[in-house]
Amino acid sequence: MAEPILPGPLAVRVRAPAKINLTLRVGRPRPDGFHPLATVYQAVSLYEEVTASPADPGVIEVRVTGEGAEQVPADDHNLAHRAARLLAYQIGEPLGVTLRIEKAVPVAAGLAGGSADAAATLVACSLLWGLGLDHQDLLPLAAELGSDVPFALLGGTAVGSGRGESVAPALARGNYHWVLAFADGGLPTPAVYRRYDELGPTPPDPFEVSAGLMNALRNGDAEQLGRELINDLQAPALDLMPSLRKLVEAAEEYRALGVVVSGSGPTVAFLVASQADAVDLTVALSASGLCRSARYVTGPVTGARVLPT
Ligand code: C5P
Repeated sequence: MAEPILPGPLAVRVRAPAKINLTLRVGRPRPDGFHPLATVYQAVSLYEEVTASPADPGVIEVRVTGEGAEQVPADDHNLAHRAARLLAYQIGEPLGVTLRIEKAVPVAAGLAGGSADAAATLVACSLLWGLGLDHQDLLPLAAELGSDVPFALLGGTAVGSGRGESVAPALARGNYHWVLAFADGGLPTPAVYRRYDELGPTPPDPFEVSAGLMNALRNGDAEQLGRELINDLQAPALDLMPSLRKLVEAAEEYRALGVVVSGSGPTVAFLVASQADAVDLTVALSASGLCRSARYVTGPVTGARVLPT
């Protein structure tokens, strides 16, 4: 007989981080339409927060507040909604939950904010519903929900393969200082992959993360890491949003160690040497008119974690 489901706590608060891709190599589309990836993710200190509280059986309710909330659906198109539904379905019980999502990660920014919501929801619902599942148990469900969701559970610095859903922690030392420049508006991920295909890319051969990047991480060498940052989706993202070009070019003037478009964009991530440099760059970018706003973050940070309520 199945274990009885014991009632969990009254509310569970979980936060999950945004990610940047230190390297993102993209292959030709597979028969299922997804592109094979060789990527390295790093979780950074910009967090989505999800609070799960009880609702009537079978009722899944979502409320969204914070950064870009008006652009986020609250119905079953919301990835957090789908995460709760998928978990309830797997358990085979009409479980209910109210999810309050407090957004800090901009929408359609290449930072996996929606994936962070889904990862946080899996952890929160598992606890609220008294299911006793750990991150390892939740990984297959995370992979079903989206390519970036498993990494949002895991956090840290990790190598991603498959369509991005297969993650393994990377040997990485050091703490890195990043300034994220947020663009006006977002870029839909499918459109960026489509433009990548249209531009007739030549995937790298061998199709793997460079040894230089892995060495930089192993040694905690920010200067080398800055030189190794690469993103095959940068060209299509710049093509779709040409105003980003000036932002990327500004890296030299600002003496950043490196610059890269994050994931499918349009957020641009600048790597700098210290907290002081990051604060200077944040101020300079905010005043430059080249972006909507800029934000200092550090990485790596941990994946989805329960917070005290
Ligand atoms: O997995 P996820 O739902 O985040 O993917 C969103 C979209 O991005 C997919 O529908 C697909 O168009 C594109 N994608 C892709 N190859 C990947 C990941 C995403 O083509 N590896």
